Amino acid sequence: MPVVARAGLLETRRLALRELQLDDVGDLELYRRDSRYAEFQPSAKTRRVDVERFVRLAVAERFRRPRLEFHWAIEDRAGVGNCIGLVAIRLLGAGAGEIGFEIAPDRWGYGYAGEAVEAVIRERAFSDLGLGKLWAQCLAENVPSRCLLLRRGFRLTRIFPACHYLRGGWLDRCLYLRLAAEAGK
Ligand SMILES: CC(C)(COP(=O)(O)OP(=O)(O)OC[C@H]1O[C@@H](n2cnc3c(N)ncnc32)[C@H](O)[C@@H]1OP(=O)(O)O)[C@@H](O)C(=O)NCCC(=O)NCCS
Repeated sequence: MPVVARAGLLETRRLALRELQLDDVGDLELYRRDSRYAEFQPSAKTRRVDVERFVRLAVAERFRRPRLEFHWAIEDRAGVGNCIGLVAIRLLGAGAGEIGFEIAPDRWGYGYAGEAVEAVIRERAFSDLGLGKLWAQCLAENVPSRCLLLRRGFRLTRIFPACHYLRGGWLDRCLYLRLAAEAGK
């Protein structure tokens, strides 16, 4: 997949990724209000006040040194600049980080998340940030997320049984790992 990295902007075939900004609150709130968004995320922030706080903290993080978190807003290059999703990396120390991602529910199933995640891993996590290990977590029921991680070279390393109570039942959490040293980074 060709990726163009220019002055902080990452471009893939269909997407542009840039730092999250305060103007994105409205777009985030709109898609997070869709009930499908939080289906597999026990601690999803969906209320306006929480989305705003989340974005403010993410923007403030840009000026923190050392910077420990990175949030990239995803735009459809054919669109009008709306934020249709996010990819985030949190540094865990010693060359390791954790990746998270989300796409607006009305854009699910078109491969956007996979395209954005791969660009961030190659051009940011394993390049600019120099990470050697990238962790990812999701609920075992989150099939799209698990498919994406496996397809993108992550290995399932551990399952934490029954650690999230959601909709009347206890759900397992899966932990995945991708190593920069492995094939193709
Ligand atoms: C997980 C999420 C980001 C996937 O977004 P997406 O743009 O639809 O993902 P993609 O289109 O790149 O598809 C990812 C993989 O899941 C598969 N998939 C998508 N929807 C699926 C479904 N309902 N059932 C089974 N597989 C599915 C795709 O076929 C693809 O696998 P492939 O590459 O082997 O073909 C999206 O569902 C989302 O934002 N969910 C809420 C937030 C979340 O759960 N984030 C993950 C926790 S960090």
